[in-house]
Amino acid sequence: MAETNNVVVLKSSRQLKGLFTIIRNRDTKREDFIFYSDRIIRLLIEEGLNCLPFEETTITTPTGAEYNGVSFASKICGVSIVRAGESMEAGLRAVCKHIKIGKILIQRDEETAMPKLLYAKLPNDIAKRHVLLLDPMLATGGTVTQAIEVLLERGVKEENIVFINLVAAPEGIKYFQDRHPKVKIVTGEIDERLNEKKYIMPGIGDFGDLYFGTN
Ligand code: PRP
Ligand code: URA
Ligand code: MG
Repeated sequence: MAETNNVVVLKSSRQLKGLFTIIRNRDTKREDFIFYSDRIIRLLIEEGLNCLPFEETTITTPTGAEYNGVSFASKICGVSIVRAGESMEAGLRAVCKHIKIGKILIQRDEETAMPKLLYAKLPNDIAKRHVLLLDPMLATGGTVTQAIEVLLERGVKEENIVFINLVAAPEGIKYFQDRHPKVKIVTGEIDERLNEKKYIMPGIGDFGDLYFGTN
């Protein structure tokens, strides 16, 4: 894992590269796209949890000896940016039993790439929680920036948000961090650039369409 400026990139390994090679290949079948995306998502979620505050605690093991460990120090919840972010909910539930998950529906205009906020439903006590915000694609950064603004309006502290993302464009990271520098980003890979249609290059294409089979 490499961290600069509140951006954590999963540690590159042949294993991770192999997973990305499968999901980025346009000839990959949908069932494999889902399976291998889910594997990367699981790694991202674990790394996202690692960004949350822990406190020291001492427990006693079955041998009677003491073990100096840590435990989570805060309440958390997930928030997915619908639709593609919903693909990350199962991975979050798999490691956080009973976690509350809010939803923010934001759709990017296909012509202008401008985000439009359509709906938000969040836990009532979200202001007291750390939030794991889920969306696999960070392109221009417009969508996640708008989602953060919804969370801030509901009283969530910027420094209590971790944005979990599969692939990011440098332009989007800059746009987002210029506005919300205290939000931590956990991403799988940072790509080269955006194309003229504001798609990430080399990218994946439309993640939501590939995952949910609407392409
Ligand atoms: C995609 C993606 C992000 C957004 C990223 O969603 O899941 O939410 O675009 O682009 P941006 O950084 O330029 O805002 P899209 O609106 O295509 O909807 P989908 O989730 O239904 O695919
Ligand atoms: N949304 C996607 O799914 N992919 C991109 O490259 C950009 C936005
Ligand atoms: Mg979206």
